[in-house]
Amino acid sequence: MNKTVIGVLASGRGSNLQAIIDAIQAGRLDAKIGVVISDNPDANVLKRMAGADIQALCIDRRQFASRQQFEAAIAEELNLRHVELVVLAGFMRILSQYFIDRFAGKIMNIHPSLLPAFPGENAQQQALHYGVKVSGCTVHFVDEGMDTGPIILQEAVPVLEDDTAETLSERILHAEHILYPRALALYCEGRLHSEGRRVRIIDKE
Ligand code: GRF
Repeated sequence: MNKTVIGVLASGRGSNLQAIIDAIQAGRLDAKIGVVISDNPDANVLKRMAGADIQALCIDRRQFASRQQFEAAIAEELNLRHVELVVLAGFMRILSQYFIDRFAGKIMNIHPSLLPAFPGENAQQQALHYGVKVSGCTVHFVDEGMDTGPIILQEAVPVLEDDTAETLSERILHAEHILYPRALALYCEGRLHSEGRRVRIIDKE
């Protein structure tokens, strides 16, 4: 079977992208990264890609008059490389309906909480403020809302008595690095079956 071509959108550090690259290299994920696109010219993720054999480029929102033109430029680069699945890995922008329609059902995101709890920014800090004893991470398909799309996989992580936002984030991030490649592998193996909001995982044949 042909490898699924994925396109990664990232704005910052790029540790989830690294976990995806590691999973591909280890043979745990049968995919090919067609392109990495950052909206931030200074993003660490671009530096990370400097020596790698993966195309990486920056599409800077400030160079475009409108959000739609910016998103059209991203979509064009993805289509040029025949990207089949768009993977958001710390991409700090909400995608509009225009972009989502162009890749309907083919955009994934990872969020550092057990959704629907604590969507949006600073999810780990929100969890500490609320006082939950368990948090975690969620991989989901992207819809037009903020972290509201159908859930694919979740992993729980304990909140410890002396946690700060930093220590909790680190524990969750460790789980993210395992969960995201697993969700991508399920997609690439054709094992995700959507029924409304419910994403069922089909057994391996
Ligand atoms: C992760 O915590 C992810 O859940 C959130 O943004 C962060 C990205 O981290 N969406 P990195 O850039 O992958 O290191």
